[in-house]
Amino acid sequence: MNDWRMLCWQSLAAFLLWSGLLGGFLYYDANLAHKHVEELARKEARANFNKDQAFRLWATRHGGVYVPIDAQTPPNPALAHIAERDIQTPSGKKLTLMNPAYMLRQMMDEFGELYGIRGKITSFKLMNPNNAPDAWEAEAMHQFDLGVKEVFEFTDIDGEPYLRLMSAMPVQQGCLKCHGFQGYKVGEVRGGVGVSVPMRAYLDELNESIRQKCLAFGAIWLVGLCGILGLTRLGRRRLREKTEFAAQQRRQHLAVERANAELTHFANISAHHLMEPSRRLLSFAQRLRRRLEPRVQDEDTRLSLEYIEQGAVRLRDLIRDIERYLAAGMPRAAVQPSDPGLALAEVEQRLAARILDSGAQIETTALDAVCLDRPRLIDLFEVLLDNALIHVNTGVTPIVRISGARLPSAVRMRLEDNGPGIPEEYRERVFGVFERLAPNPLAGTGIGLAIARRIVESRNGRIWLEPSALGGTAVVFELPDGG
Ligand code: HEC
Repeated sequence: MNDWRMLCWQSLAAFLLWSGLLGGFLYYDANLAHKHVEELARKEARANFNKDQAFRLWATRHGGVYVPIDAQTPPNPALAHIAERDIQTPSGKKLTLMNPAYMLRQMMDEFGELYGIRGKITSFKLMNPNNAPDAWEAEAMHQFDLGVKEVFEFTDIDGEPYLRLMSAMPVQQGCLKCHGFQGYKVGEVRGGVGVSVPMRAYLDELNESIRQKCLAFGAIWLVGLCGILGLTRLGRRRLREKTEFAAQQRRQHLAVERANAELTHFANISAHHLMEPSRRLLSFAQRLRRRLEPRVQDEDTRLSLEYIEQGAVRLRDLIRDIERYLAAGMPRAAVQPSDPGLALAEVEQRLAARILDSGAQIETTALDAVCLDRPRLIDLFEVLLDNALIHVNTGVTPIVRISGARLPSAVRMRLEDNGPGIPEEYRERVFGVFERLAPNPLAGTGIGLAIARRIVESRNGRIWLEPSALGGTAVVFELPDGG
């Protein structure tokens, strides 16, 4: 069933669209959160690095700083080459020179908790072997040799995630006091300083926030899913109703058709059974009149005999036309192009006596073949010609002209007379059964045009009346080509 498949596709498309939309949003949002966290970590790294750097530069500007010697602050052996490494105050207090690296190391060792992120200073040319670079730092310093100033990277240290920052440390004038003996010049890269921000807490928080987003988006997704399911069920119910309605209509249609067929059958049988007695009635009425007429003197009886015969004729004609009307809707032979000339000849033969009586002239032009079974084509012409012969102007020779024209996919025929004509307002009405304009009982059965219309319309053709150039009525009908 096409409608059902359509509904399935629609629901599937809605589901995919909805899931895709929410999935996309979630992905975008999580990505944004991740970027945000990285940005925060970068800021933290930068802040800590700057603080370290400020301390180092401050100490360098003073050429190192002198502090009292104590157990945790012994003189730095790496400064042994500096002339006044250890000095004494006038009161005898012993002071030693602290270089920037030493100073920061002590600060981090003793106040680590307060200090926060631990910084690192390193070089390939070490004065203190404890400052040796690890693999990552060594790689970063190689990049400094290539001109890179700073390396920022999210990487692992001992299996834990970190953001590492390492910046080149160029030699300034103040550095040379202690590092000059190593052969450095101002501007050369002495080594690198860096910080490593642990990312664990950041990532935990990020994961938690993504988990919450997942829950929220999942809930929204579920609501949408329920909506889609609800709509699908509604659509299904509508479809079922539609199918049921169609089935019911089909049943009703069949019932009407059956009733119609029964009624037609009944009408056919009735007409058929009535035909025989009516014929017999007519023939005996005629016989009776012929026998009695010469002997009957009484005018009243003579008239009665005449009326009986007229009534019998009318009864037979009525039943004949009813039979024709009933038969008009169905072909009685192969529907194929038939020659109207032949059919007309047959009709003229049937109506020969009437034509002769009225002195009517029948003019026919060359006619195109029309697509209709022969028996009905004959019926059609017979009722039309009969009509034309009935409705004549007294004292005028009746003329009936039959012409045809080829249309793109149909044949149009015109049967016109010079009779009294039919006023415009009645031209449609006369196609109804028993619709007669003249109350004259001899003026036909009143079924003729209805038979004609039924024949033409059963072939999807059209039939109508027009005024004729001859002064009377023109019956025009079109019969489409093809079976
Ligand atoms: C007061 C003396 C002094 C000054 C000034 C000084 N340093 Fe140092 N620096 C040292 C000593 C001593 C060490 C090694 C011992 C240690 O780690 O404390 C060191 C270590 C370093 C290291 C680590 C590598 C290693 O050799 O252990 C780098 C890099 C460094 N200094 C660069 C600089 C730069 C750049 C400047 C100038 C901005 C500077 N230092 C100023 C004395 C100094």
